[in-house]
Amino acid sequence: MRSVNARSASSSLVSLSVAFCLVVLAGSCDTGQAQSAAAPVTCATCHVGVAAHYAVAPMRHAMEPAGADPQLTAHPELRANVGKYSYRIQTSDGRSTYTVTDGVNTVTLPIRWIFGQHSQTFVLEKDGHLYESLVSFYPRDNTLAVTPGDERIVPATLTQAMGRELSLWESRSCFNCHATGVVPGHQLDPEKLAPGLDCQRCHAGAQQHMADASRNSFATLPPSLRRLDSEEISAFCGQCHRTWDTVVRNHWKGPAFVRFQPYRLGNSKCFIGNDKRISCLACHDPHQQLSHDQAYYDSKCLACHRAPHPASATSSPPASPAYKPCPVAKSNCVSCHMPKVDLPGGHQQFTDHQIRIVRPGEPYPD
Ligand code: HEC
Ligand code: HEC
Ligand code: HEC
Ligand code: HEC
Ligand code: HEC
Ligand code: HEC
Ligand code: HEC
Repeated sequence: MRSVNARSASSSLVSLSVAFCLVVLAGSCDTGQAQSAAAPVTCATCHVGVAAHYAVAPMRHAMEPAGADPQLTAHPELRANVGKYSYRIQTSDGRSTYTVTDGVNTVTLPIRWIFGQHSQTFVLEKDGHLYESLVSFYPRDNTLAVTPGDERIVPATLTQAMGRELSLWESRSCFNCHATGVVPGHQLDPEKLAPGLDCQRCHAGAQQHMADASRNSFATLPPSLRRLDSEEISAFCGQCHRTWDTVVRNHWKGPAFVRFQPYRLGNSKCFIGNDKRISCLACHDPHQQLSHDQAYYDSKCLACHRAPHPASATSSPPASPAYKPCPVAKSNCVSCHMPKVDLPGGHQQFTDHQIRIVRPGEPYPD
């Protein structure tokens, strides 16, 4: 057993001591599990709280391993008709298959790559090519229907009806946003990727930190994301959730793009690039489940929209300026100012992050 003194490793260890324990210190863990000396060190060994929350967080499940998908297991038989084609997804004994037929010919493929924890789209392989399934599963309506973005496709062949062929570039980016382990410049091998986002997908350098930390060296901590301002965090989350620049550069307009939160938030008058009170992290902890409780967000809005504190009103400039309060209501701010918007197709809704005064009958603002 290595002789490690966790408490002398760093002063901030003390503040983190509730959240983790060091298995390398035999017997110091109070998880109730007997830890053998050979237990492999993982992030969860030390960051117990973060790892426990993250295990059930959406981004951990941005892809599900084949056979372990709760949605398909709960819906062992799904069917849809689109044009002259019939689709069927069957799941039994931890295996799912995707079938499309035009009544004469039939293609059946195994489902190996399942994208999304709510709505689900499948990446399929046929004759060495990758395809995005033309139909997706929408749990909200409990239905199989056309995949977002594919509404205008009129398939000319059974293969086209099965799915939209992905270019190498596009399949790389799919897996790069939904899985861990895509290496730039290397051939894409989906079998070698870890489904969902591992800790190191966001915390670059964490593997080295883990190796060093388990030898009681803290010289190689991953860069702190907490210090980033709201503009930098929007760019960080926007690698996948799409940045304002990406959306504007591509001339993406209309409600289909309401799902790109960094872009919508950047459009809002509330967004101040160097004010952390409007950073993604002010409202969301990426390690935790998304809160659907409207009242949860009130304090985030009121951090800015409040009567000025007498002290900060006189000191100049005030440390954290206050902005106008609401003349209409004192709670559930997001229910009026961050409306839900239906995606074209109607099976999915997103929250408009362009925080604003919403006037009845007014069109969706781009
Ligand atoms: C052997 C224990 C140990 C292991 C294993 C470990 N960490 Fe840490 N980690 C620490 C300690 C201790 C700190 C805090 C050091 C400090 O604050 O001075 C820390 C800090 C961090 C930070 C904070 C950086 C900052 O300043 O905001 C991140 C992020 C992090 N670890 C991620 C990870 C990830 C991801 C893994 C798994 C790949 C991992 N750690 C594995 C002990 C560990
Ligand atoms: C640039 C990063 C990026 C790329 C590329 C990407 N996605 Fe996503 N995807 C996201 C993000 C972020 C979300 C969550 C928010 C949203 O729905 O926009 C998401 C959501 C989804 C969802 C819905 C998840 C849910 O829980 O409702 C599905 C299904 C999905 N993506 C499939 C795919 C497929 C298939 C591809 C490739 C053809 C792909 N994505 C490419 C980032 C990406
Ligand atoms: C590597 C790509 C990636 C990065 C970086 C990323 N996300 Fe995500 N995020 C996703 C994908 C993919 C999903 C869809 C997961 C799902 O629901 O299937 C998602 C889902 C989410 C959800 C849950 C959506 C829901 O409907 O439950 C939240 C909240 C979220 N991300 C916030 C953030 C924040 C905040 C950041 C920045 C700190 C961030 N994400 C960075 C890829 C990413
Ligand atoms: C989607 C991106 C993302 C993923 C995946 C992710 N983190 Fe983080 N992590 C962040 C961001 C952003 C911060 C800064 C948030 C803050 O401190 O408010 C952070 C902060 C931390 C910190 C320092 C602050 C704290 O809360 O103690 C630790 C430690 C940490 N992460 C560990 C992990 C571990 C362990 C995993 C995997 C189980 C993980 N993270 C997965 C984005 C991510
Ligand atoms: C001022 C608070 C606030 C900020 C800042 C904020 N969000 Fe949200 N976000 C919300 C609310 C409220 C919801 C809806 C929660 C619910 O009812 O499901 C939400 C939902 C989401 C979802 C789920 C899909 C959707 O659109 O409904 C994702 C993903 C997300 N936010 C990502 C982000 C990212 C990335 C950023 C930074 C660019 C960000 N959010 C900044 C309040 C905020
Ligand atoms: C970083 C501080 C900050 C945060 C956090 C913030 N806002 Fe704002 N908000 C502003 C600023 C700055 C303006 C524009 C100047 C003004 O009106 O005082 C503004 C303007 C507004 C407006 C008027 C916009 C218009 O269309 O004229 C509304 C409504 C609003 N905010 C609601 C909210 C709600 C609801 C939340 C929480 C979900 C929120 N704000 C969070 C800073 C913030
Ligand atoms: C019932 C819907 C509703 C709720 C809930 C609500 N607001 Fe408003 N808010 C409005 C309307 C409508 C206006 C526009 C009033 C006008 O100009 O006629 C408004 C205006 C505002 C403005 C602009 C004020 C100005 O003078 O320009 C801000 C800022 C604001 N709200 C913030 C908030 C915050 C913060 C909360 C939560 C504490 C909140 N709102 C809750 C409906 C609502």
